[in-house]
Amino acid sequence: MTVVEWDPRLETGIDVIDAQHRRLFEAINDLADSFKSGQALEKSRDSLAFLAQYSVEHFQTEERFMRSMNYPDLASHRVEHVRLVSKLQTLQVKQDKGYLVTADVAMFVADWLSHHIQEADMGYVRFTKAIGKR
Ligand SMILES: [Fe+2]
Repeated sequence: MTVVEWDPRLETGIDVIDAQHRRLFEAINDLADSFKSGQALEKSRDSLAFLAQYSVEHFQTEERFMRSMNYPDLASHRVEHVRLVSKLQTLQVKQDKGYLVTADVAMFVADWLSHHIQEADMGYVRFTKAIGKR
């Protein structure tokens, strides 16, 4: 099940970040797919674990990038990252306790990521252009 498709309007023009965003979209779709499988619990646990871990890695990449150019909105941007990571980690804990994580989690993350890219991420893209880094 594809819950989210890559949209060229989400391109930041920064290769490493676009590649990671695309990989996150794949991970979200994998999570959505996992619920249909015969081993739904096991697969959704693996998919959620990957999504949570890859989100951390991706956010670290972005935060390093923002820090490298003294981006003034880094702190508020980081708050958004921390919130999503904590939400995903809470879901992992719940899942370990037997709570059934369902496809609406994949829809939520898809929606969150699309909005985050278009609003927060595009903020640092504009900044790189404004300071002549791109
Ligand atoms: Fe971000």
